[in-house]
Amino acid sequence: MPRGVAMTQGWRVVARVGDVQPNDVIAVAVDGVEMVLGRDGDRYFAAQRRCVHRGGDLAEGIVSRGHLICPQHAWRFSTATGCHAEASEYCLVTYPVRVVGDQIEVDPQAQAQAPAQPGEQADEGEAGPGKDQARDRPCR
Ligand code: FES
Repeated sequence: MPRGVAMTQGWRVVARVGDVQPNDVIAVAVDGVEMVLGRDGDRYFAAQRRCVHRGGDLAEGIVSRGHLICPQHAWRFSTATGCHAEASEYCLVTYPVRVVGDQIEVDPQAQAQAPAQPGEQADEGEAGPGKDQARDRPCR
């Protein structure tokens, strides 16, 4: 199983590696699901596009020090878990991301378990962090 991949087959290409610069976020839509695709340093993440507070457009947010910051009221969400930095009961829906060649894929049907790294290749049969490093998600 590829690293950071839940056990689903719903991968969709959403961007190419060069489309998302470090500490940037873009809007993507997959199977009718509006989301943001971001890059926190060398790690990609995907989350729902609308903020859980009052619906701010997170595609206009900024990525800084491990957080996606909403442009409306500056709530900070972890790029690793999707949860608010100080109030973990407020979480974004997040999605698994993987890099296959120069394409970035998201599975809109699955819940994220671990982020993908730029240049990380999907490798069938590999036991990755999806099994070994599942994150504690207190908000779900
Ligand atoms: S709408 Fe995002 S912090 Fe208020």
